[in-house]
Amino acid sequence: MGMINAKNLIFEYIRRDEDGNVESINRAIDNVDIEVKKGEFVAILGHNGSGKSTMAKHINAILTPTEGTVWVNGMDTKNEDKIWDIRQTAGMVFQNPDNQIIATVVEEDVGFGAENLGVPTEEIWKRVEESLRAVGMLEYRTHSPNKLSGGQKQRVAIAGIMAMKPECIVLDEPTAMLDPIGRKEVIQTVMELNKREKVTVLLITHYMEEVIHADNVIVMDQGKVVMQGTPREIFSRVEELKQYRLAVPQVTELAFELRKNGLKIPKGILTVSELVEAISNIA
Ligand SMILES: Nc1ncnc2c1ncn2[C@@H]1O[C@H](COP(=O)(O)OP(=O)(O)O)[C@@H](O)[C@H]1O
Ligand SMILES: [Mg+2]
Repeated sequence: MGMINAKNLIFEYIRRDEDGNVESINRAIDNVDIEVKKGEFVAILGHNGSGKSTMAKHINAILTPTEGTVWVNGMDTKNEDKIWDIRQTAGMVFQNPDNQIIATVVEEDVGFGAENLGVPTEEIWKRVEESLRAVGMLEYRTHSPNKLSGGQKQRVAIAGIMAMKPECIVLDEPTAMLDPIGRKEVIQTVMELNKREKVTVLLITHYMEEVIHADNVIVMDQGKVVMQGTPREIFSRVEELKQYRLAVPQVTELAFELRKNGLKIPKGILTVSELVEAISNIA
């Protein structure tokens, strides 16, 4: 069993009137199977409304399945006795960094979650330092979080989660409100946590560029998993991706068009340097 498993997961938002009669049913997750293995970096891609956030909310048991099952490190999220274990195992990072700031000094903010878990003070300071170093924010430890850039705030939020020592972090569009520099900082940080600290990562995004370094990519559309594979496999299927309203990275698109026009370029080009190499191999 993996770190995160969903089996035949169905989730319906049910709206009722005052008398409790069902007014409408919106099936946001429609029979989804997902596995994220320990240590893996998995990305979920999908257009707005495809069910990504609903999926994320199942992983820390904010929502529980209408049908099917979700396990986090083998714990069924329907098991209420396990809810705190589950939430400590899978840390969540959300879209808006401002909503995640609690304290007026960075290091206090980072220690807050661990303190709530009852971690001894000395151990907290050790973890705060380690976590801030891991996200490249140690030199800001005594700063006010409010004065940081969006990308820096998001890295502080990630450090706060790391200080709770989760085995897995789930990030729900952590870069959606950031500028391109902030987006790069955050993705870089997440990649390094995965590689160096061996944290299992589930990154939810609608930016295709951010999934290049993932081990596996899952594409969702209308509550279903519609594509699954390595970034290279997924990026080879340009026309399908467009059908799911996902914007392909410029370099992948250019390679795709060149290939369509008869140039001998391999499928699934991910970076500029790969394209340069492919073109020079032709010449
Ligand atoms: N609280 C809610 N009540 C009713 N429907 C909802 C609620 N939250 C999301 N939905 C619907 O569920 C579907 C999936 O939404 P969501 O999981 O937020 O998608 P994404 O994160 O990919 O944009 C959409 O049709 C959305 O309108
Ligand atoms: Mg969402």
